[in-house]
Amino acid sequence: MAISIKTADEMEKMRVAGRLAAEVLEMIGPFVKAGVTTEALNDICHEHIVNVQKAIPAPLNYNGFPKSIAIAVNHQVCHGIPGPKKLKNGDFINIDVTVIKDGFHGDTSKIFFVGEPTILSKRLARVCQESLYLGIGMIKPGIHLGDIGAAIQEYVERHGFSVVREYCGHGIGRVFHEDPQVLHYGKPGTGAILQKGMVFTIEPMINAGKRHVKLLGDKWTVVTKDRSPSAQWEHTIAVTDDGFEVLTQRKDEIIS
Ligand code: MF3
Ligand code: CO
Ligand code: CO
Repeated sequence: MAISIKTADEMEKMRVAGRLAAEVLEMIGPFVKAGVTTEALNDICHEHIVNVQKAIPAPLNYNGFPKSIAIAVNHQVCHGIPGPKKLKNGDFINIDVTVIKDGFHGDTSKIFFVGEPTILSKRLARVCQESLYLGIGMIKPGIHLGDIGAAIQEYVERHGFSVVREYCGHGIGRVFHEDPQVLHYGKPGTGAILQKGMVFTIEPMINAGKRHVKLLGDKWTVVTKDRSPSAQWEHTIAVTDDGFEVLTQRKDEIIS
């Protein structure tokens, strides 16, 4: 399938959806603390998206996913199902939010620390976020997607961590996951050439140990095979005339 190019009108709707997704992550921060369940965080986000934002939580019923957001705790890589387990001091979690507003999707995720982070989790989260920013900073018309993947992989591996291969970023618009696939590893000069009006996510998943993952019996939760901690951050980004626009930028971030 061809990569869709958003019109100016569609881009404006993507901006709105992106801002709403970012706003959920801004809102939920103060609720992330020891003793809270991931289900409670899901419910707060769900209420906010539906009743305040008048938007739709895209994960709910997506291919049968039973909750409105995904939460990955510690060695969980992605697609964790919120549940009754309480967070404890030293845990770190990725909250992944996707909203649909006026027919368009905004998709973003962020790491939160519960109480006092461990040195390893802090470093893993920082390297992951830096690799995301590195990839975003390269975006402009004319470059190849493989240039981004290669840069992310090189950065992550140089810091002694590994890149998950089984899951990737994706084009996004009226459809949650559309072309292209945005790999977080690869070779420069390969893959699609970026054009103004493309919109896609970059969402590197990186592990402190080996890159291999496995799927739990719930058919959703992805964990590291070696049970090493895993981190992820995600943004939805548009290609502009001469660079990029981060549609899901939060108020706590400066992305140059
Ligand atoms: N938001 C995730 C992504 O970045 C997908 C979550 S799908 C779910 O693409 F069903 F697992 F929630
Ligand atoms: Co996401
Ligand atoms: Co995504």
